Amino acid sequence: MPDRQYNLTVLISGNGSNLQALIDACASGALPNTRITHVISNRIKAYGLERAAKASIPTTYHNLKSYKDKHPNALDTAREEYDAELAKIILEGQHPRPDLIVCAGWMHIVTPSFLSPIAAAGIKIINLHPALPGEFAGAHAIDRAWKAGQEEELKRTGVMIHEVIAEVDAGDAIVTQEVELREGESLDALEERIHAVEHGLIVEGARRVLEGLGKK
Ligand code: GAR
Repeated sequence: MPDRQYNLTVLISGNGSNLQALIDACASGALPNTRITHVISNRIKAYGLERAAKASIPTTYHNLKSYKDKHPNALDTAREEYDAELAKIILEGQHPRPDLIVCAGWMHIVTPSFLSPIAAAGIKIINLHPALPGEFAGAHAIDRAWKAGQEEELKRTGVMIHEVIAEVDAGDAIVTQEVELREGESLDALEERIHAVEHGLIVEGARRVLEGLGKK
């Protein structure tokens, strides 16, 4: 990758172990010339916020609730306003504009009110999903794959990093990795193996996108 500096904004909702993988990759040089300049969470209790603070990364808490309270009978309107504000926080806030936005365990469905201004600004956005393309979209993907392994003899699941579009957990895959489903394995054990794959793949997905930007 060339010498220019790349800024990442990372969106999280929970534990933030994938955020931690990105923090570590920036520090080790696995993601060269890259720094995380902003972490945004839609949950106040997300442990990832503490991880960001420990790494001296500025954070923002942006929650849907106040938008729902404002529009109690119009969830679509609440989501659109929330998403438009999320784009504004990223594009017009006090933090450096990112070259790339990474959804790392971001459990919020984004709408065109967010995606359109981000695309217009020429900023790439990618998502981590713990399943292969076209499979187990939405929440609890690991549980559902595990169940399909136990009950329907599904032999493998996987992890993907993909471009974000308005459809949930869809969009072109940037990198994928299969994970074998083992007979008799507990859900906890499968989760642990999948998380380990995620931590490598999220770094690889970000690296590939940034490398692509460097060539432009
Ligand atoms: C990860 O397993 C990620 O794949 C999943 O949330 C978890 C976040 O973990 N994301 C999705 O299911 C998105 N559809 P983390 O907070 O420790 O990074």
